[in-house]
Amino acid sequence: MKPIEWLGNKLKIIDQTQLPGNLVFVELRDYTDVVAAIKQMKVRGAPAIGVAAAYGIALGAQNIKAETKAKFLRQFDKILQAFTAARPTGVNLFRAINRMKKMATEAEFTTVKQALIDEAKRIHAEEETATKQLSQLGAELIKDGFTVLTHCNAGALATAGYGTALGVIKAATEQGKKIEVIATETRPLLQGSRLTAWELMQENIPVTLITDSMAGYFMSRGKVDCVIVGADRIAANGDTANKIGTYTLAVLAKENGVPFYVAAPTSTIDLSLKSGAQIPIEERNPEEVTSIKGVRLAPKGVKAVNPAFDVTPHKYITAIITEKGIIRKPYLGSLKNLLRG
Ligand code: MRU
Repeated sequence: MKPIEWLGNKLKIIDQTQLPGNLVFVELRDYTDVVAAIKQMKVRGAPAIGVAAAYGIALGAQNIKAETKAKFLRQFDKILQAFTAARPTGVNLFRAINRMKKMATEAEFTTVKQALIDEAKRIHAEEETATKQLSQLGAELIKDGFTVLTHCNAGALATAGYGTALGVIKAATEQGKKIEVIATETRPLLQGSRLTAWELMQENIPVTLITDSMAGYFMSRGKVDCVIVGADRIAANGDTANKIGTYTLAVLAKENGVPFYVAAPTSTIDLSLKSGAQIPIEERNPEEVTSIKGVRLAPKGVKAVNPAFDVTPHKYITAIITEKGIIRKPYLGSLKNLLRG
């Protein structure tokens, strides 16, 4: 399965909004289509958004007509701005934008378009390698016979690679361990029931779906050996933004003595932010709360709010699994050293 594929002059993606009912691939021919796909969450998950944006920026650059580098860069900047406004929380998007900007600035005018395609391919390849490596490292934490609870979707779909939280589960299974997964449905957009359940079933990994509100019940009865989730942005002190509901799970895990792991490539770490309080949280349309797939579930006119992410304070996180190693408290110095090393 290739959730994101560069086809030379266009980008092919799985439309994740159509899963699990239909496995639909769409071809994006213009950078504005890629921006729209990110906003509409046809492509989603922090690392996958970064990869899609890099290809989208390269795609936009191919269509620029300019006689000088300065004119090229002026038009290129508009493309970058469109991606900057796509989604605010996941840092991989901004990391990809900055890398593409640097490449455009440094490359020779005659070869800049190809250089941008090459950089996007590098970003994609790096995510593939990082997610594979962190999954193998993280698998050490998962023992034979474990039941692992996960939230949202942090699999191949979300990374355009091997996956992070689901990657660790997959790698443990490939090592011959018998693993059971409990997937929370992840309201409002149901990434757990629509995507995680689907991905795990494709891989023949046993999965049981629960509603978000059932997690405490299962943890309190000793039915969960560890929780493992992905991340959208990790601040320098280890505070982690991830899908709304992650914080609740972390507190429940602590209360019940269940280890709580975050799995993420180092491209998700943002050392420029001291703590999670500085992470911008995306507010989405309240209709995602009052309806599911266009079916209204709440009285017309009711007030609703829709923060898409929350921040889990580092004190609740047992370890952060990255491709460069598994980090434990205190995170502040360790994350800095990890990125430098
Ligand atoms: O709103 P989404 O579906 O893009 O949110 C995704 C998540 O919160 C994931 O857990 C996170 O991006 C990690 S994906 C490897």
